[in-house]
Amino acid sequence: MILENKVISITGAANGIGKSTAKLLAEEGAILILSDVNKLALEETAHELAALNSTIQTVVVDVAYQDQIETIAQLAKSHYGRLDGAFNNAGISGPSIEMIDYPDDVFDQLISINLKSIWWCMKSQLKLMVQQPNGGSIVNAASVGGLVGKPLISPYIATKHAVIGLTKTAALEYGSKGVRVNAVCPGIIRTPMLDAIIKSGEMGTEEQWNTLQPIGRLGDPREIGELVAWLLSDRASLIHGQSIAADGGFTIS
Ligand code: NAI
Repeated sequence: MILENKVISITGAANGIGKSTAKLLAEEGAILILSDVNKLALEETAHELAALNSTIQTVVVDVAYQDQIETIAQLAKSHYGRLDGAFNNAGISGPSIEMIDYPDDVFDQLISINLKSIWWCMKSQLKLMVQQPNGGSIVNAASVGGLVGKPLISPYIATKHAVIGLTKTAALEYGSKGVRVNAVCPGIIRTPMLDAIIKSGEMGTEEQWNTLQPIGRLGDPREIGELVAWLLSDRASLIHGQSIAADGGFTIS
């Protein structure tokens, strides 16, 4: 087990990539602090994971609010005396609208939930991790939308590019203090977020989505969890400041 007894926080843990990653991390021996804004779905996730005999704390957190985010690190410190790792995963896609018509208030919402949340998560996590003898490992959820542009989702693309910038800067500032910071860039992954986009039909049919990745299929959330688990583990000890795509080749060309 590559994460045995490591205390790890996951935001947006009730669905999709966060939930699959939580399961995988539990199987790898991690002690989990799972948070999400959706209380009911979070409880269901914790219930499912209980079968894996893992140690789990849940906390309802809306990552749009800094004070709520702070409770995660506080909980880690008070219960376990440390936070070894964090997957800052919560995010939203927003609607698909051309730039000149895109509402400013939705832009601001995406900035809060996708970007400021990562800023606030890292601030509270780094404060704790730099004081720990074994430091820590942080993984931020970016996207292939942080590496390339895509029409109709300009605020999403902007936030994910910015997450990569924050990741690189945090890595430069805190690497020598024992904290590794990386980002994952998922391709097109079958989750409730993507289902909603496909169902809206605004960005093509399901068949069209399937052809977007050179491997000819969508990704499974667990395939992102595999990368996150490795990055959080000591096996990735030399991987720092990177934004790694798991995208079936989406960004090759
Ligand atoms: P999802 O919509 O399936 O799950 C996201 C979870 O985050 C949900 O449980 C939701 O309740 C929670 N959440 C949403 N807003 C929140 C808030 N304000 N505070 C706390 N929790 C909140 O999404 P999915 O697909 O699992 O995405 C997870 C991350 O991966 C996001 O950051 C997303 O941008 C990123 N990503 C997803 C891709 C995909 O194809 N599904 C592709 C690239 C990146």
